[in-house]
Amino acid sequence: MKKQMNIAIDGPAGAGKSTVARMVAEQLGFIYIDTGAMYRALTYAALKQQSDIQDGSDLLKLLNETDIELVKNNGKQTVTVNNKDVGEEIRLIDVTSKVSYVARHPEVREEMVKRQQILAEQGGTVMDGRDIGTAVLPDAELKVFLTASVDERAKRRHEEQLSKGQPSDLEVLKEEIRNRDKIDSERETAPLKKAEDAVEIDSTKMSIDEVVKAILSLADERRGMIR
Ligand code: DC
Repeated sequence: MKKQMNIAIDGPAGAGKSTVARMVAEQLGFIYIDTGAMYRALTYAALKQQSDIQDGSDLLKLLNETDIELVKNNGKQTVTVNNKDVGEEIRLIDVTSKVSYVARHPEVREEMVKRQQILAEQGGTVMDGRDIGTAVLPDAELKVFLTASVDERAKRRHEEQLSKGQPSDLEVLKEEIRNRDKIDSERETAPLKKAEDAVEIDSTKMSIDEVVKAILSLADERRGMIR
């Protein structure tokens, strides 16, 4: 039986979903589920195998043969593909620039959604993605749609790259973000869209702590309602 609530956090690339979701989960003692990492892991496997990322049935076959797990390694959340830790590889540009094309295929999404629903069956999760409130967990007790302007999202990414000592070009990042937004929101199956009952939080002028606080307070309200 489900004992605890599920929290769905959706929104465009770079709005701060994963940082915020991880912190909210930590505060509540919930499990954080990064669904983007699952699509990234499949993309990684497809590129390794030189699969055709335009071919949905090929990708589904590969997904069915691939063990993708969200695990904790040395206290850090990461993702494994057939037991290999690919946490770093899936954030590299090769995967980042291709993942939206992989995530577009309905057959891939159907299988991913099934896997994600199983992970949340017991409740007590904070799940972030693009279609969590609309397709994966339509009954989630709390749904948040987290946004920020393209300029702000690119700026955050730029600063993050520079702080890691990686090269970065702000204008290229803006273009990349616009492109991913476009593919993610215009695809036919489960496009990026705010669920009708989601609470929209625009984080453009908010700090991470402020966003986390706002979500925790909403969670508290909802918990009160379902007690
Ligand atoms: O959140 P992220 O940047 O790691 O997501 C990677 C890609 O996966 C993103 O371009 C959209 C896709 N995605 C999706 O279609 N549905 C999800 N639930 C999560 C991610």
